[in-house]
Amino acid sequence: MHKIVLIFLSTLSLSYSVDIYETIFDGNCGSCHTQKDESSAPTITKVIKRYKKMHPIKDDFIKSLSNWVSNPNKKESLFKDAIKHYGLMPELGIDKETLQGIAKYLHQSKN
Ligand code: HEC
Repeated sequence: MHKIVLIFLSTLSLSYSVDIYETIFDGNCGSCHTQKDESSAPTITKVIKRYKKMHPIKDDFIKSLSNWVSNPNKKESLFKDAIKHYGLMPELGIDKETLQGIAKYLHQSKN
């Protein structure tokens, strides 16, 4: 009985936290990183794909993506081609924990 309640609660909190980061992504990143339009930035699909290819392990993906976004720089970029095209992404001043949540959301999203 207790076990069932616990499983139910942890499922609830999981979907809750994922929803939060989806909303944060949409509000802070989604205007530039859309699904299709590449006029402001590479699509989020391309970003996820390249980061997954270079960082096949989930924790590495989360770490490298959140680190980069907290400190955009050319040296550690996987998108030097995009920097040439759009210029370097601006620093957004979002804290590390939130960026890790966004990265986790992106890793498991269907984008
Ligand atoms: C003002 C537009 C803009 C916003 C807002 C924005 N980005 Fe970007 N982003 C870019 C552009 C342009 C690039 C490509 C150039 C580059 O890599 O610096 C980029 C590149 C990236 C990359 C690839 C980094 C690399 O070079 O390896 C990641 C990851 C990324 N963005 C994630 C995010 C996340 C997460 C957010 C929200 C927290 C976000 N971006 C918000 C414009 C934006």
